[in-house]
Amino acid sequence: MKKQNIGILGMGIVATGFCQTYFLNQGEIDKKMGTTFEFKKVLVKNKDKKRISELPQSIYVDDFDQFDLKELDIVVELMGGVSPACEYIKKALEAGCHVVTANKELMAKKGKELIQIAHKNNVLLRYEASVGGGIPLIGTINDSLTSNKIVKLMGILNGTTNYILTKMTKEKIEFDAALKRAQTLGFAESNPTADVDGFDAAYKLAILSKDAFGVIPDPEEISKQGIRNISIEDIEYGLELGYKIKLLAIGERSNAHVELSVQPTFIPIDHPIASVNNEYNALYIEGNSVGEIMLYGKGAGAMPTGSAVLSDVVDIVVKKSDYIGSCMAQNIVVKNIGFSAYYVRMEVLDLPGVLGQIAVAFGDYGISLDSVVQRARGGQFAPLVFITHDVERMKLNDALRTIASKEYVNEIQSIIKVVK
Ligand code: HSE
Repeated sequence: MKKQNIGILGMGIVATGFCQTYFLNQGEIDKKMGTTFEFKKVLVKNKDKKRISELPQSIYVDDFDQFDLKELDIVVELMGGVSPACEYIKKALEAGCHVVTANKELMAKKGKELIQIAHKNNVLLRYEASVGGGIPLIGTINDSLTSNKIVKLMGILNGTTNYILTKMTKEKIEFDAALKRAQTLGFAESNPTADVDGFDAAYKLAILSKDAFGVIPDPEEISKQGIRNISIEDIEYGLELGYKIKLLAIGERSNAHVELSVQPTFIPIDHPIASVNNEYNALYIEGNSVGEIMLYGKGAGAMPTGSAVLSDVVDIVVKKSDYIGSCMAQNIVVKNIGFSAYYVRMEVLDLPGVLGQIAVAFGDYGISLDSVVQRARGGQFAPLVFITHDVERMKLNDALRTIASKEYVNEIQSIIKVVK
């Protein structure tokens, strides 16, 4: 039986997890595939560095020209970044190799083009590990839920921010201290922008949108807000009102459009996704036939992510067929209306009638209020917290502009989406 010739681009944490998972379970995997892997080439920066003991040092190369695509069946791209990974993947697909990648930024930004190249060359491109690490999200949507129209996704897709928000909520430490803790533990990068400002979650949502809704958005089309401005004060008001805060990536489909956003969101404390803590990830999916399901697990780390990469490779060997899930939905555009309930915290002069006048101002814009909290602080100013009923974000912004211009309003301090 012909062996499957594998080439790996990069040998960092995930590639190491990929190889270790294979050698750990090789007997069973080979039996499932009816064949075995031959690791032919590994492209790295330093070919002399000692790495995985099962792989001979001679297969490491430091020049892509020595990464002989003609001898490979499957290329596993685990180097990260858009360039040169994108060029290498294109060359591999054009040379007739199947490709497996864990590269979320690349798939979000160039996925459409790469999928077309794969189709044109009659090969497969798989990317399970690019979203949710070890949690089988892409395969579930494409294989197991292909009978459904997916109407809603709500995901905790970034472990770093989930860890930070969990610490802020449980230990009442502010964002900066929680971020430092995440950096010390190695969850957060020294430059945490991609995680805390929502880019990482937006890339992952862009990828899921293709599979769940048949829409491949430009990541720029995703409305995005990070967690830097979340305060303990907001978290405590949320808890008092029955909500926990999570950085949620939300995709919602109506007949004509899909709405895609990443933002800190208040979610009812008894919602299953509110119980996903620390660095764990989860995706809550609503299908029009299956109803609601939730997938939960480790969104990062060598072995979980390596396990997802390896499953893609095995799937290619065993099935050699493309996903059909996303074919159900087409001609749908991305449109962000932000129709939702919102939490608004403001600081106002503590004078008689102020609360009433603000409620009237919301009413003038047709915005109905669900709850109000006012806690006296004993000074000149008092905090006021409102939760609205569903309203379009633009209309809320108009109302808040008017409210902010009133002489009795010192500052609008927070606006946070609420899922009820
Ligand atoms: N930086 C990501 C996170 C892990 O914090 O979840 C890799 O996607």
